[in-house]
This record gives sequence, C-alpha cells and structure tokens, in this order.
Amino acid sequence: MTLIGQDPKEKIIERFARHVSSGKAKFFAQVGIDFVFGRREGVYVWDSGGTRLINCHCNGGVFNLGQRNPRVVAALKRALEELDIGNHHLISEHRALLAQRLARLSPGDLNRVVFGVGGGEAIDTAIKLARGHTGRPGVVSGIGGYHGHTGFALTAGDPKYSAPFAPLPPAFSQVTFGDLDALEEAVDSDTAAVIFETIPATLGIVVPPEDYFAGVRELCDRNGAVMIVDEVQTGLGRCGAVWGIDTYGVVPDILVTAKGLSGGIYPITATVYDDRLNPFFEENPFIHVSTFGGAEVGCYAALEVLDILEEEGFLEHVRDIAAVFAAGFDELKSKHPDILVETRQRGLMMGLKMANDFCGPLMTLAGFRHGILTIYANNDTSVSQILPPLIIEESQAREVLEALDTMLGEIGQALESV
Ligand SMILES: Cc1ncc(COP(=O)(O)O)c(C=O)c1O
Repeated sequence: MTLIGQDPKEKIIERFARHVSSGKAKFFAQVGIDFVFGRREGVYVWDSGGTRLINCHCNGGVFNLGQRNPRVVAALKRALEELDIGNHHLISEHRALLAQRLARLSPGDLNRVVFGVGGGEAIDTAIKLARGHTGRPGVVSGIGGYHGHTGFALTAGDPKYSAPFAPLPPAFSQVTFGDLDALEEAVDSDTAAVIFETIPATLGIVVPPEDYFAGVRELCDRNGAVMIVDEVQTGLGRCGAVWGIDTYGVVPDILVTAKGLSGGIYPITATVYDDRLNPFFEENPFIHVSTFGGAEVGCYAALEVLDILEEEGFLEHVRDIAAVFAAGFDELKSKHPDILVETRQRGLMMGLKMANDFCGPLMTLAGFRHGILTIYANNDTSVSQILPPLIIEESQAREVLEALDTMLGEIGQALESV
C-alpha cells in the first residue's frame, strides 16, 4: 500500500482547510497554487497530480541532503532497532556522542551543546544562556531578520509577527544588518547578546560586508556581550564551509544549528556554546530542559548527516556547484537586466533580487509552471530565495538555471503588460 495520494487532491485540500489551516488553504486558492506535497526523492518533489519540481526551497536547509536521503533513512531504521527518545533528564550515550561530534566540527572553544527540537527553541536557549551568563537584559538583533516564532526568537524578529502578542519580553532592540556604526550605538554595558543570522534569509539573502562579523565580534568583546550566530539556514555546508560563519573567519560565543541537522528525517536542533559560558548551566543544570530535545534516535540519524557532511569532496561539491550557479547568474543578469537587478550568493545560499516587490511572488508562481520550487523572502518580497539541495548535480543545476531564465522572461513580459 502507498501512503501518498490515498485520496484525490480536492479531498486532501478540503480536509486540510477544515482541520489544519483554513487561512493557508484560502491563500493558496486565491493565488492559484494547488500543489499537494506528494512523492519525494533526492532533489525532486512531486505533486499528487504528478507535477515534478526541483526543490530549491528545501525548507531553508532541511533538505540539504535531498529528500529521503537513503543513508539517513537507513540510519534511522537502524536506530529504531535499539533506541527510542531516551530520557532527557538522565545521562545519555547518544546525546553525548552527537554533542562531541558537533563540538569537533565547531570553531574555537564551542564544545558544549544543548539539544532541542525546533530552531526557535534553540534560539530561545541561546538567548536564555546569554542573559543567564551575563546577568544583563539587552538583546540586539537585525531589522528584518528571522529566528523563529517562539518567545525570545519571535521578539528578536520582525515586529509584524510579534506585535499581536505584546507585551513582549523587554530590552530587545534592532539595528540595520551589516551596519557596524548602528551596532556600536546599540551595544552597551546592558547588552547580554547580539544575534544575527550569518546571512539573513527572510530579509532576502543579504550577504554582509566581508569585515562585518569581525566588527561584530570586536564590539561584543569590547562590551562584554555574547555573540550569537543563527546558522539555522547557513550551516551544515550551505555556504561551502561547515558553518557560514567559518567563511568570515570569526568565532562566535554561541552557534545555533537546526533544520539540516534533521537530515529531513528526524527533527533535532543544537545550541552549541563556548566553554566559557558553561558555569551558568553547571550551577543550574535543570534550569532548561526539553523532553524531546536530542531524542536518541535523532542523535543517531544526525550523526549520519554529519558523516556525510564530513566526507571528502562534499564541501568541494557545494563550491563547484556554486560556481556553476555564479556563472549562470551572470548570464541571467545580462539577459534580464530590467528584472534581475542583483544576485546574492555565498556557496549555495542564493537569492535573486528583482525589480520590485511583486517579482518574488510572481517567480514562485512561475516556478510551479516550470518545475522549480522556490519561495520569495518574506521580509523583502523582491527577492527569490534559491536554496537547492547541496547534493544537486551539475546537470540539475543547469536545469534550474534554464528554468529561471524562462521564469524571468515571463515576469519581464508580465511587467511590461501592466
Ligand atoms: C534563520 C532561522 N532561524 C530560526 C528558524 C526557526 O526554526 P524553526 O522553524 O525550526 O523553529 C528559522 C526557520 O525558518 C530560520 O530560518
């Protein structure tokens, strides 16, 4: 028996609207998207009606290793033979093994880990640790950034998502990402933490100046603030190095990883922190717990994800494919100068900045017609995010570029006709 497509598409949509989200169903109906996630394998996802798309969304990195990566699936099956969630209060062999591996892969003295289930939770943990460690309240984040929809993470993000839930935790402020002068103004002796995505995805894949993070590090050091990097999207090979922040040669105090650590198979996240911050948790070992955080079966599967990441040639492949995209983007820019105003890229963290705010949504719609799953950046809808699986082959990357060419052409025509 097959699990996918047991009911006709209309029935699935109707049931989803009735019991999951009437608002989402209405939105998709209004914009003319009736894609129901069906079969999935490698870089491809299929609609239950049979339409095949190359996944250039990847849920922001969840599918770095493709859909249903056979090695991660096999690892989870092996884990299920002997393990389960485990007990989050007790000493755990498998949580310790994964933490040790994450420590080895992380820069500097980042050698301790708190596990979680979701990215927002892992960001909340980072901010808790920064406040606990410093005894200060202030948290400075980037305007238009995104760190999740949980408490502290939500407050550090865009007010359009947090305002309805006021009153929010106090002492949060925001600065323009990439502007060191603005950060210098904002950080003082009350600042517990400065938190940025290494490359803010929801803001439109904004690649900061090369010396930005060195400046952030220096300002944090000068003011005794904790530097947190959100590597939920940029980590685990996406930027052509293990961590996006590695490409800037800077060591943060706390690094948060999530999405891709799951291998797209079992949710697990990690807040990796510097040994120097450990006294707070050592004195308060039960102050933060998460029942499912670092579930043992998930730890085992995540170790397989890290094995793949560490294999010889894996990061080189990411960089090679990134070069294919970079050359392709140059061609697209010269072919569509009125629409494609800027391309943004670090490894396979890529964005196409277009002429106006309608272009991102139009590209998403065009993608459904031309075999590409891509979404626009929510806090700058002129940008299409292009995040293919890291295992994408060169021929598939060229297929993506050809489709993008067609999609940009269509959008050019649509804009000319209005
Ligand atoms: C950069 C970043 N941080 C944090 C999160 C939150 O992760 P989660 O949805 O798992 O809570 C996301 C999710 O999209 C993200 O993109």
